[in-house]
Amino acid sequence: MTVPDLDLDVYLTDADLAAALRADARAGLTAAPKWLPPKYFYDARGSALFEEITRLPEYYPTRAEREILADRAPLIARLTGAKVLVELGSGSSEKTRLLLDALRDHGTLGSFVPLDVSGAALRDALGSLRRDYPDLHLHGIVADFVNHLEVLPESGTRLVAFLGGTIGNFTPSERAPFLSALRDRLAPGEWLLLGADLVKDPAVLVPAYDDAAGVTAEFNRNVLHVLNRELNADFDPSAFAHVALWDPANEWIEMRLRAQRRMTVRVQDLALDVSFAEGEELRTEVSAKFRPERLDEELSAAGFAVRSRWTDRASRFSLTLASAS
Ligand code: AVJ
Repeated sequence: MTVPDLDLDVYLTDADLAAALRADARAGLTAAPKWLPPKYFYDARGSALFEEITRLPEYYPTRAEREILADRAPLIARLTGAKVLVELGSGSSEKTRLLLDALRDHGTLGSFVPLDVSGAALRDALGSLRRDYPDLHLHGIVADFVNHLEVLPESGTRLVAFLGGTIGNFTPSERAPFLSALRDRLAPGEWLLLGADLVKDPAVLVPAYDDAAGVTAEFNRNVLHVLNRELNADFDPSAFAHVALWDPANEWIEMRLRAQRRMTVRVQDLALDVSFAEGEELRTEVSAKFRPERLDEELSAAGFAVRSRWTDRASRFSLTLASAS
């Protein structure tokens, strides 16, 4: 799709992404146990599979967060009076429209700044936002929210939305520096809106990551298709079983791919042969779940003051509004 006058800043080129994938794949596939970072799930096919996951009966986080936003967006607009809405890892920005509508109706919003690693996803999202919000200044940023927070524009009170529970993809030792760096980019009185999934019965959590239709399994195996294409590897994705387990000590869901037989995989572009024992597991994602007290502690340690927290009616998911203090 061509979008006229698209205000899109690119801080992350395809060459940067390819270099990061090479470095991450080499580090993860030569480690014991083996691992891969979850950000490589999201090529075009992976993003479509994720959209499908958000509509699965077992995957409650998206619906729960949308319920909270539908109820609370007008209040969030009144409390923050934000002029600029920034969204980290914006993807399709579908739920964000609830915030855009409320901030527009409140009369303060001037611009929307979605930031995503995928230039293609951003162009699509901006194209459809352009049609529906003709008066809004749209400023897309292709960047990695872990490494490029310094590129957030500074023009009026900002509300930074980090939705979907993506904060759960960080381990605690990655979370603290991320939240501190984000706090340091904001002026006192600017805002963070953080979506975080809550600790709950594993009988609810595990099926959300191991659905009956097998969509999450296909999403998980998609990272192997990405390596095959981008690094000229020869993984046989069908030789890996999808594993989703609840780690009660860390309070996170872990996704893994389990080799169904002994095999050696050639990763041509890394000049690397990777051997798997039968039953060996490759970790592909952690999705941490939170307790409200722990969120408060981590946010205040990073220099945020929690203003409000809301959950959906079934108390499955939380949205926290905090200001830079
Ligand atoms: C997009 C990171 C929030 O952890 O629930 C969904 C990704 N992985 N099913 C999550 C995901 C498996 C999702 N986040």
